Amino acid sequence: MSDTHAADGTRRDFLYYATAGAGAVTAAAAVWPLVNQMNPSADVKALASIRVDVSDVEPGTQLTVKWLGKPVFIRRRTEDEIQEARSVSLNDLPDGTARNENIPETSAADENRSLDEAGEWLVMMGVCTHLGCVPLGDGAGEFGGWFCPCHGSHYDSSGRIRKGPAPENLPVPVASFVDETTIKLG
Ligand code: FES
Repeated sequence: MSDTHAADGTRRDFLYYATAGAGAVTAAAAVWPLVNQMNPSADVKALASIRVDVSDVEPGTQLTVKWLGKPVFIRRRTEDEIQEARSVSLNDLPDGTARNENIPETSAADENRSLDEAGEWLVMMGVCTHLGCVPLGDGAGEFGGWFCPCHGSHYDSSGRIRKGPAPENLPVPVASFVDETTIKLG
């Protein structure tokens, strides 16, 4: 009798571990994509900071670079674009916050989003804050900035959301000038 019980016990244990093992594998497979995103591989970390030569960027044009797997818009704005961005009443902005990683959170005034004081340079992630499409630039949309055709989000010349489903302004990543013609991202 006791031998039989021992055998049963062993078999149950075996089944238990086998099941637990299969469960663990399934869970690991499901969790992996998330972990993968949260822990960039070594080569991605090595590129956490890049330098971009902007010496060829003319006023009124924009350079799009890929950084950490995402597009970054580097726009050299014209006087008109700067004026337009700086004359907007903050009350007209659906998202009133700057979304600028370089400064503590503050108002979405254009002065709080541009890279330089004069406002000539605007650096933003080129990822629509609605569902992540890449907005069209060069004055696209109803507010002279960027337009996301996926669901119709309009951003102004400061990259602030003005109309459409996107909830937030295009985010400004950590960026700085390391010399007159080089912008460092990260
Ligand atoms: S992803 Fe841009 S509007 Fe929906």
